[in-house]
Amino acid sequence: MWNAPLYNKFGTERIQPSVDLVNRLSGYDFKRILDVGCGTGMSTVTLANAWNAAAISGADLSAEMLELASASLPDIRFIQRDCSKPLDDLGKFDLIFSNAFMQWIPDHDKFIANCCGMLDECGVFAAQIPLFDSMPASKCIKDAAADLPNEYLKDFKERFTIHSPEEYYLILKKYFGDVQMWTTDYYHEMDGCESVLEFLKGTALRPYFEALDRETMDAFLSKALKNLRAAYPSAANGKTLFPFKRLFLIAKKQT
Ligand SMILES: C[S@@+](CC[C@H](N)C(=O)[O-])C[C@H]1O[C@@H](n2cnc3c(N)ncnc32)[C@H](O)[C@@H]1O
Repeated sequence: MWNAPLYNKFGTERIQPSVDLVNRLSGYDFKRILDVGCGTGMSTVTLANAWNAAAISGADLSAEMLELASASLPDIRFIQRDCSKPLDDLGKFDLIFSNAFMQWIPDHDKFIANCCGMLDECGVFAAQIPLFDSMPASKCIKDAAADLPNEYLKDFKERFTIHSPEEYYLILKKYFGDVQMWTTDYYHEMDGCESVLEFLKGTALRPYFEALDRETMDAFLSKALKNLRAAYPSAANGKTLFPFKRLFLIAKKQT
């Protein structure tokens, strides 16, 4: 289960990649947009601000996330769906957008092929994927998880799927003509590692809340916090800089 208010707590940090991805598409006049894994609607509102005349739909698996999305954007069609499965019945689109969603599903080749099939002939696929595996925070969590009893660990294998940029390039080139890719390092200014932990509770740590009992979770979080303090020391002004690397993909059917 997703904790939608906790996810939204770091709205400033979480919305910026959608804004940056939308800005790279500013020359387009999209008419039918699908926001896949729309969550609480943070990515959807960015799309609505940029293309206010477009018919926009948001799809997500989580009822908790969709409830907040519908409350903040009542004029947009939100649909509860498992987006790792085909969505062809939703119709054709000229933009399929996916911000911070793909890492939660296992088969990215199949997902990208499905999206390509739902795009009209000039359609664009645009996605952002956090390169979390390469960040110190990921190791902090994995190291804390290594101390968990085996019964807890077995469910966490391959929890996230994140490929290398080259692998995404090769997948996209199977289905699309023109492919653009880049990464951005965001330097989030946080109030200490407690805030970093709080940020991670809304996303990367979320699956652990589902699997661990309260006592085990508390011990696990204390270890994760200790690891974070070592990996992200305070800056001279007492703040903590939390670098976050994100990969951006834009693929167009026509070159
Ligand atoms: C990190 S949030 C991103 C939300 C939004 N795009 C944003 O930019 O804030 C990831 C979202 O993916 C959704 N999700 C995970 N697996 C899914 C699946 N199989 N089908 C649909 N949505 C899924 C979650 O419910 C969550 O809302």
